[in-house]
Parts: sequence; structure tokens; C-alpha cells
Amino acid sequence: MIILGLESSCDETAAAVVEDNNVLSNIVSSQLLHQEYGGVVPEFASREHMKNINFVMQEALQNSGIGFSELDGIAATRGPGLMGSLLVGLSFAKGLAISGKKPLLGVNHIEGHIMANFLDHGDIEYPFLCLLVSGGHTMIIEVFSHGEYKVIGQSVDDAAGEAFDKGGKILHLTYPAGPIIDKIARKGDKKFHHFPRAEVKNREYDFSFSGLKTSLYYLVKNKGRKWAEKNMNDICAAYQEAIVDALKIKFFKTAHESKVNRLVLAGGVAANSRLREVFQREADKAGYQIFFPSLEYCTDNAAMIARAGLEELKKDNYADMSLQAVPNLKL
Ligand code: KG4
Ligand code: ZN
Repeated sequence: MIILGLESSCDETAAAVVEDNNVLSNIVSSQLLHQEYGGVVPEFASREHMKNINFVMQEALQNSGIGFSELDGIAATRGPGLMGSLLVGLSFAKGLAISGKKPLLGVNHIEGHIMANFLDHGDIEYPFLCLLVSGGHTMIIEVFSHGEYKVIGQSVDDAAGEAFDKGGKILHLTYPAGPIIDKIARKGDKKFHHFPRAEVKNREYDFSFSGLKTSLYYLVKNKGRKWAEKNMNDICAAYQEAIVDALKIKFFKTAHESKVNRLVLAGGVAANSRLREVFQREADKAGYQIFFPSLEYCTDNAAMIARAGLEELKKDNYADMSLQAVPNLKL
């Protein structure tokens, strides 16, 4: 089955052609204009999607060597995400589906992140335990099959990616700061400062990252910006360690308590090199199988949307023109 995927839930305009688990093309156009504002400006994001989506789609088709007539379906993200941004991709997909007489497949972005793993590792045997860590979500999910989930824990405030990005803002780093902190932290000392871990009273599987961010804010405020500039590598290393450690503690606690010994990482923060190192070591120690998506399928992309769309196609779960974009779509 060959699926064209479209993704426009936030600040990446993306299109990809995927045949089963093989990615034939994967085009991502990242909107750099938000850097100036230190975060995504929704109105600008939807305008950029409007400008780029046709080119991105054309390029994905061209690079795949597949003609439009050979496609078995058009998959698009229907949520969660920014309403205006979602509408661009979804409306564009509807237009393609109706004019080309192709099945329209509505995809949950979170499912897309999980299914990204199948592109690298082939179909992973169910059930598995997934840690989804992105700019919008931090969730521990037991995955019984596609469409059958139990959310065990999640963040009660900021997502892990937000903790990186907001921390970066305090340190005057460019948005999104996750990949920058990852790089800078490699030269720093993790033990330079002890930041609080993301504990939530009486909720042992949930995360909270807002206290961590506040703790960094006051550290920089009290010690001064010059001090922060001088110790940037060490601050980043210690701050990143607090995020990775909190994720590790809760995720592996859940794993030890469950009967599932297959672990799957998903989302932009799964690209973090320290997280991958720590999680691999921890999994090896306990004898779990652990899967990470390759770096290009961690952050937002349309190959994962096409792959999740394939599951909808297999279930004959076709959408029609009444399909709505849902900004707070749940798993
Ligand atoms: O999955 P994603 O592309 O978008 C959402 O669905 O939110 O995740 C984006 C998030 C951003 O917060 C970004 O800073 C973070 O993933 N991120 C990273 C790394 N690469 C991306 N965080 C830490 N280390 C990285 N290498
Ligand atoms: Zn995402």
C-alpha cells in the first residue's frame, strides 16, 4: 500500500510517500520565522503552511518516483495541534482526495509519533510500553494494538520538550532549544548543579516540569547573566540531566511493574543523545528490548503520518469531507 502523508499540526510543513514500512520520500519544511519570537506564533504558522504545502507535497511525490494515480490513500494530521495549522493540511488533503478519488485518512499526531518506530524497525510486536516526549506531550502509554491504548502517566504542566525550550529561553538560546541544549550539554558537567526532578504529590506516574523551569529561572536571576554565560555548558548539562532522569525514573518504574518488556520511545525529545544513552543502558541492565526512532522520525514529519494512515486504511476507516480538525484530540 502506498500512502501520501501530510503534516501541518505545528511549525513543520511536511509531506511524505510511504509504501508499507518503507519511506520513499520525506520532505520537511521547518518554519524558521518563529525563532525571532522565541516560540510558535499560530497565525504566522498557518500562513506559512498555506505558502508551502503545495510545493512540499509536489517535492515528496517527485522524490518518491510515484505518480499520484498510484497512491492508495491520502493521510493527514487531524489533531492535536494548532487549529489554523491543522486546517491547512487537512483541507489540502480533502482537496486531493476528492479530486483524485482517493481514500482520505485522518490521523492522530500522537499515533503518528508512535508508529514512526515501525519505519525503522518494521512492525513491533504488541503490546509495548511507549514514552512519548514531544513539544506538546509527555506520556507513558501502554500500547495493546493500533487504536488500543492505556495512558498510565502524563505531564500535569509543561511537556518535556517545553522544559527544554523554556529553559533555553531563560538561557537566551534560540528556539527550539532542545537540540541546542543537547549539543552544548555534551561539553558540560552534569553534576554542576542539582535541579529538582519532576515529582507530583500522590501521582507517582505523572510528571511536572514547571518547577524545574522556575528553579533555572531563579538560579540565573540570582547568579546573574554573566555567570550563566560563563557556565553555559555546565548549566545545560545539569538541566538536561534533570529532565532525562525524571523521565527515566517514572518510565522504568512503570516498565518494572508491568509485564511488558518491549519499550518504545517517540517524539522530538527522543532525539536527545543523553536520553538515548541513559535509556539504552537502563534497558540493557533490565533485559528489555528498547526501540528509538531514527532522528529524522523523532521530530515532526509526514512519514509517520502516512504510516499511521496505513493502519486506518487497513481497517477501512475512511474519513469523509466532514472530517474535523480537533486541536485537543486525545489518544
Ligand atoms: O515531536 P516534535 O517535533 O513536535 C511536537 O509534536 O511537539 O517535538 C519538538 C520538541 C521541541 O520541544 C524540541 O526542542 C524537542 O522536541 N527536541 C529536542 C531535541 N530535538 C528536538 N529536545 C531535546 N534534545 C533534542 N535533541
Ligand atoms: Zn509532534
